[in-house]
Amino acid sequence: MNEYDRNFWEQRWSQALRAHGDRVAQRPPNAHLTAEIGDLRPGRALDAGCGHGSDTLWLAARGWHVTAVDFAATALAYARSTAEAIGRDVAERIDWVEADLATWTPQRDEYDLVVCLYVHAAGSVEEMVQRMATGVARGGTLFLVGHRPIDPATGAATAAAGQVQVSVEAALAALDPGQWQPIVSDERPRPMAGTGVDAVIRARRRS
Ligand SMILES: C[S@@+](CC[C@H](N)C(=O)[O-])C[C@H]1O[C@@H](n2cnc3c(N)ncnc32)[C@H](O)[C@@H]1O
Repeated sequence: MNEYDRNFWEQRWSQALRAHGDRVAQRPPNAHLTAEIGDLRPGRALDAGCGHGSDTLWLAARGWHVTAVDFAATALAYARSTAEAIGRDVAERIDWVEADLATWTPQRDEYDLVVCLYVHAAGSVEEMVQRMATGVARGGTLFLVGHRPIDPATGAATAAAGQVQVSVEAALAALDPGQWQPIVSDERPRPMAGTGVDAVIRARRRS
């Protein structure tokens, strides 16, 4: 049984949006994403596991045409209505897709950018990385972030303990160096102090 299944995330999003929807609305886009991807020329992007949509909205506001996938209908509905409230030009650049990333496969070579941030892999991380990577066009970018389960500074379990998220080792093992050029493959402090580190992987598909 997968503890972090659709039902878990549905409940988590319903609860979070009910209890503090105002705070969710104010969540900024991911700091690793904005630092690494801000200089890319907008094209077609996939946000796999988009959640409440702040990264999708940031990309769309910068001119990216985004396919945003999540299996939590509550989060998708919230993200869609936020996009509509921002404006038609942003909303029209986003396709919201309700699907399970355990099996959903992007169209091959479709995207200039594939982003997958903090998504628990129900099966093998390597398999999921490889499946998401099939969506990246030649010359395009794969950008992955995973919250590490142990804080290296304290040895304490983090909020991601129990989840299987991408690590630098798993991502590098999954990506054929003949096809992929790693640009970033680091563990970096998370934006919120005291919450451990994130594995940050940025790789370019060779042309
Ligand atoms: C920790 S949240 C991260 C959301 C967003 N990427 C971010 O960084 O703010 C994980 C998201 O992945 C989604 N998710 C987890 N497993 C999934 C799966 N198998 N298929 C689709 N979405 C999934 C959850 O519903 C949730 O919205």
